[in-house]
Amino acid sequence: MPHAESVLAQLRARLTATTRVAVLSGAGISAASGVPTFRGGPDSLWEQERPQDLATPEAFHRDPDKVWRWYDWRRGLVAACRPNPGHAALVSLEALTADVTILTQNVDGLHQRAGSRRVIEYHGSLWTVRCTACGREARDERVPLPLPPRCGACGGLLRPGVVWFGEPIDPQVRREAADAAAGCDVFLVVGTSGVVHPAAGLAGIAKQAGARVAEFNLEPGGLGGWVDDFVPGGAETTLPQLLSAR
Ligand code: OAD
Repeated sequence: MPHAESVLAQLRARLTATTRVAVLSGAGISAASGVPTFRGGPDSLWEQERPQDLATPEAFHRDPDKVWRWYDWRRGLVAACRPNPGHAALVSLEALTADVTILTQNVDGLHQRAGSRRVIEYHGSLWTVRCTACGREARDERVPLPLPPRCGACGGLLRPGVVWFGEPIDPQVRREAADAAAGCDVFLVVGTSGVVHPAAGLAGIAKQAGARVAEFNLEPGGLGGWVDDFVPGGAETTLPQLLSAR
């Protein structure tokens, strides 16, 4: 049996015998849906733009219109995308294993649109906005947004409900994600370069707590020592293969 197939068959057997699975997903799982990744390849977002110009509190303070134009463009792009078979396979995983928690770095909402029931959005969401004046947070799915968007309650300037570089992760989100990583038997890492912390550290938390860690990616990411099994290929292919492996 080829190596990748035997890894998948062993993993599937483990998933069937397991009660708790956590999945750390990144931009790669949405690539087949048409959502650009941040790194790797000439079309990736951080090849086109510098993160410090668009994804920091300082950038927003300097030029909120510029930052909002970029986020509004991404909202429009994602609104036109559909979940792919990789997202769908993680939904099917819930039929195999009782307790599945998706810890996603993605802000696109595609796991939820596919039907995953427990999704922790580690870096927030493109679909929430937060008032810079009164702090009110709301879901907002308008595409395009009237720019710059204003708070319905106080008229203050809204900002995207995402985590920017230099900002802390919401403490409750961070705690819930760490608990899911520490409490799982199998930890799947899907489509992330594994270079952005503290998200990437969740794999280490899982491994140190005794989970089997399996990575699904086109190439090994930055998680090196934490990974027990590597499954090469597009997650839109390999995750469905995992579910049907014998
Ligand atoms: P990256 O863009 O850094 O990495 C995408 C990963 O997906 C790479 O390791 C690719 O090899 C892999 N990949 C690409 N296509 C794939 C496919 N079809 N199937 C499987 N893997 C594939 O994205 P993230 O790791 O998610 O943060 O980036 C982490 C964070 O950096 C993001 O949440 C964002 C970004 O800056 C913030 O904005 C705070």
